[in-house]
Amino acid sequence: MNTTYASVVLAAGKGTRMRSNLPKVLHQVAGLPLLAHVLQAIEDIPFASTFAPLQATLSGHRPVVVVGYGAEHVAASFGDRCHYALQDEQQGTGHAVLMAQEAVDTLEPQPEIVLVCYGDTPLVTRERLAQLLAEHVARQATVTFLTGTASLPSDYGRVVRNAEQRVSAIVEVKRATEEQKQITEVNSGVYCFERAWLWSELATLPRNPGGEYYLTDLIAIAASQGKTIATVAGSLDETVGINNRVQLAEIEQLLRRRILERHMYAGVTIIDPATTYIGVGVEIGNDTIILPGTSLTGQTRIGSSCRLGPGTTIENSVVGNHCVVRQSVLEETTLEDSVSIGPFSHCRPGAYLAHNVRMGNFGEVKNSYVGPETDMHHFSYIGDTTMGEHVNIGAGVVTVNYDGVRKNRTTIGDGAFIGSDTMLVAPVNVGEHAKTGAGAVVKHDVLPGTIVVGVPARVLRSPQPADSSIADSGQKE
Ligand code: UD1
Ligand code: CA
Repeated sequence: MNTTYASVVLAAGKGTRMRSNLPKVLHQVAGLPLLAHVLQAIEDIPFASTFAPLQATLSGHRPVVVVGYGAEHVAASFGDRCHYALQDEQQGTGHAVLMAQEAVDTLEPQPEIVLVCYGDTPLVTRERLAQLLAEHVARQATVTFLTGTASLPSDYGRVVRNAEQRVSAIVEVKRATEEQKQITEVNSGVYCFERAWLWSELATLPRNPGGEYYLTDLIAIAASQGKTIATVAGSLDETVGINNRVQLAEIEQLLRRRILERHMYAGVTIIDPATTYIGVGVEIGNDTIILPGTSLTGQTRIGSSCRLGPGTTIENSVVGNHCVVRQSVLEETTLEDSVSIGPFSHCRPGAYLAHNVRMGNFGEVKNSYVGPETDMHHFSYIGDTTMGEHVNIGAGVVTVNYDGVRKNRTTIGDGAFIGSDTMLVAPVNVGEHAKTGAGAVVKHDVLPGTIVVGVPARVLRSPQPADSSIADSGQKE
């Protein structure tokens, strides 16, 4: 028979200890909000290797996120990636889960298990969540939760066990005795509950002396009823909850390291992990070498055998195989294979550099197609342009694409030779194999095979009739 689990993520707290106007779960690590990391882990549970034995019988639902402080802001960031439940007043984690009851109970088919995560624990992995579900199912437990071991357990809830090593309670630090504070096994804040039991117990959960409803108090209740309580031991890293900005920075480092290691194990050389920043969603082919001071973020895909950096920034871009990008910036750019860029160049949104383009230093390309085998080695600006193949862009060429009101397009045909310091005043078309002299200011279309020079540019030489391929194109002065 098919069983389903609901996932509930608590994200209603303000995160007072962050001292921020932004809801805590929207603070970012590794380029994504804390909550996004948790949601990703939940969404990826079916792909976890530990989930394989459950695959045929267990499936999940879209997560329910409990929002409160900055609810609209959180909902605007995540849209229909999740369902939302509102907790108007933050009365504690137990109360927060109860607020999700209606959303959970309307899921179809009705879940038997409720997986609860906190929105401030971004290092939790899909493997561990899957392992928790597997243990919960195997033990037919009423509640299963994830633990960690901390040498300095600070503000985590302590896991109290009886003489037989059975869990008898989770005690929050505020209420722990000195002896309990010495316990190093702590609550990570990830739980699986039997749904029916969860709702009936939450409905009658007493407030703790501080006036809050603690989800963790359910453990002592389950123990007193003789219910099965299972635990899964996780590593301390993945149990880190973020309560303040010091922890935010620590986790940034841990997460960055985890991402870098994944790429290194997959065949990417990272010369200096300490100065290399790779966002969670980035893909990189093997044998690519990443030099110090390089940052790859957003929806970026890098091919194999590239050499990126030092000092290169690539955002939301696609880079082919065998590309070299030195000390340069790419934003929303596509490079086909074997493109080389830099040092000190900038490709802005909509730049597309085809196979084997060589873009040297101090170049800028925006919203333009640069055809294969094109050379533009020295300080040129190419904007709103469509360019053929085998074009030569001389030093200092500028497409003058903005007339103060409008952006205008330039087209440059195959094999054209644009002389140094040419200004191509758009809208303008330069035909195939045309040439412009150094310093030309080109305001009118240049027909194929024609040479123009001067300011404003005039025809110096039209194609020779013997050159039939060009003479056929019917140009006139
Ligand atoms: C909680 C656990 C503690 C555990 C630790 C792990 C409780 C009572 N304590 O403590 O045992 O070791 O996490 O990180 O659960 N939230 C709401 N509504 C509320 C209160 C909290 O949505 O009314 C959300 C917060 O936004 C946060 C999460 O629940 O994302 C956890 O709350 P937090 O106050 O950070 O709990 P901890 O003190 O860290
Ligand atoms: Ca916390």
